[in-house]
Amino acid sequence: MKLLITGAGGQLGREWVDFCQDHGVSYNSFSSTELDITDDDKVDKIIADVAPDVLINCAAYTKVDDAEENKQTALKINAESVKELADVCKRHNVKLVHYSTDYVFSGSISDKENNPEGYKEEDSTDPVNAYGYSKLKGEEAIKNSGCEFLILRVSWLCGQYGHNFIKTMLKLGSERDELNVVNDQFGSPTFADQVVEQTFELLQQNKTGLYHLSSEGITTWHHFSKEIFKQKGINVNVNPVSSAEFPTKAKRPFFSKLSTQKISNVDGVPILDWKAGLQRLLKQL
Ligand SMILES: NC(=O)c1ccc[n+]([C@@H]2O[C@H](COP(=O)([O-])OP(=O)(O)OC[C@H]3O[C@@H](n4cnc5c(N)ncnc54)[C@H](OP(=O)(O)O)[C@@H]3O)[C@@H](O)[C@H]2O)c1
Repeated sequence: MKLLITGAGGQLGREWVDFCQDHGVSYNSFSSTELDITDDDKVDKIIADVAPDVLINCAAYTKVDDAEENKQTALKINAESVKELADVCKRHNVKLVHYSTDYVFSGSISDKENNPEGYKEEDSTDPVNAYGYSKLKGEEAIKNSGCEFLILRVSWLCGQYGHNFIKTMLKLGSERDELNVVNDQFGSPTFADQVVEQTFELLQQNKTGLYHLSSEGITTWHHFSKEIFKQKGINVNVNPVSSAEFPTKAKRPFFSKLSTQKISNVDGVPILDWKAGLQRLLKQL
């Protein structure tokens, strides 16, 4: 199986490159400077030249707050270019793997009460911010394109590369004695190395369609930060605060736990509890 990886300089893209190198998987990877996915002609030429079996799209506009003021850019990268990728994949008979987000859901507190196991793949979407809207439009474009695809929604993505919540907490924990962390947004982290392993297993089993990839269990950012400091033995006072006390440009869903039911029914795809996933990642950092 030959892979073409876009967005290869990002958190997930770098994890994919590591995986391919470690497992002897044939791949070509392109960072944002090597291949801008908004450059339709170049995308078409590179896919024709490389002739991959699978395109792994890790490229995305991921700045959730900035997307509120840059809606057109977010839509261009997360939806219009994704439509073009899907069309090119269809023309060249390439399977498209694309990553999406828990932020496609509205995440109201009533959804948490009615659905404590988390959102299922077939649940209705209703994003509360521009980033989530742009990602949803990308999903829809792929589904409408007629290409063969895997769309994998992930939540609270954390890995050894790039920026993420765990790295931010470790930095703040080394600088301060006291932190305020939001305690009314519920979800579950997804770990980048597990995303890559699970995606590869799905590809090997020739699976298609939409899957949620996340950890078992549910937490809040506040409890997540406390667990990070506990596992690292860092002494920081973490105060729980509400989203209202910690305003951001983009609204966040109060509840965005992704159900792991569908993915856990796939053979050979173990799902770790979020605390075990955290332990594994902290050893890598
Ligand atoms: N991070 C999370 O918490 C989270 C949560 C849910 C879902 N997701 C989804 O998971 C996927 C991977 O996210 P991530 O955390 O790996 O994101 P990331 O670290 O921000 O990586 C995204 C990569 O895409 C590149 N990129 C941006 N615009 C591009 C363009 N026009 N052409 C080519 N490359 C471009 C970026 O390059 P530059 O840095 O040079 O711009 C960056 O290397 C995304 O689809 C994201 O929406 C992430």
